[in-house]
Amino acid sequence: MTTPAIKAVIPAAGLGTRFLPATKAMPKEMLPVVDKPAIQYVVEEAVAAGIDDIVMIIGRNKNNLANHFDRVTELEHTLERKGDHGKLARVIEPSSLADIHFLRQGDPLGLGHAVLRARKHVGDDTFAVLLGDDLIDARDALLARMIEVSQAQSATVIALMEVDPSQIHLYGCADVEPTGEYDVVRVKGLVEKPSADEAPSNLAIIGRYVLRPGIFDVLERTAPGKGGEIQLTDALAELADDETIAGPVLGVVFSGRRYDTGDRLDYIKSNILLALDREDLGPDLKAFVQELAGSFD
Ligand code: G1P
Repeated sequence: MTTPAIKAVIPAAGLGTRFLPATKAMPKEMLPVVDKPAIQYVVEEAVAAGIDDIVMIIGRNKNNLANHFDRVTELEHTLERKGDHGKLARVIEPSSLADIHFLRQGDPLGLGHAVLRARKHVGDDTFAVLLGDDLIDARDALLARMIEVSQAQSATVIALMEVDPSQIHLYGCADVEPTGEYDVVRVKGLVEKPSADEAPSNLAIIGRYVLRPGIFDVLERTAPGKGGEIQLTDALAELADDETIAGPVLGVVFSGRRYDTGDRLDYIKSNILLALDREDLGPDLKAFVQELAGSFD
């Protein structure tokens, strides 16, 4: 499938308080998942969807992020001298994935505000937003599908996934109606982090969006919402309410493999699941997990 070149915005300015003290001096996006920082999976996902220009919206103490995607010549020379080409390739890889730009968020006013910071870089084009807490398995081409739907229908597209109703208060939640396509719904309304009673469905926004530039004017006037923050969900709700602003809002309902690295327990599970799939680690880890499970009987 060929997808037109669009830019991606990766907000990475969160404080990561759920992982303290690990995130005291290191951004949560740098936490390793198996042996790669979570943010690298997200960049690789964007690249796999045909994106080669990425802007990261970063906060204070986030220089490690820029360093990770830069060259590190001393280490490269050492590995080269040792003839360790495997490790050398792994060190160079992050710096050759895409054209990555870094922008400071300034005031931490929320996800909507972070996305708005990318306005000048994105210009008047459709763009993707990827949130680092959600990792989508490389075998499931969610973002490419969203870009395809956005192009075909001139629509804003968000990724939705069914969650247990007890979890919906952690997400933006969508009120939807079916379309002719099995994996696409029309979004009629959105609520940020509703209680289970108020939630219009059990469809949660997972952190992938394909947005049209019309969202920027809406974000400019979006007042602080849940938690006193400027919420992307609130701006999207306005778009869903008035299709004349930026076309319809559609949801691609994802049923593939998603790893939540924003929550400690899910982060541990993600490490295990992704390591089990690895040729170098999987067989030994599987034997260990089986033995461990047996010891609980
Ligand atoms: C953000 C969004 C929320 C979305 C979630 C997906 O919340 O505000 O609508 O469902 O990401 O991960 P956060 O998890 O940053 O609080």
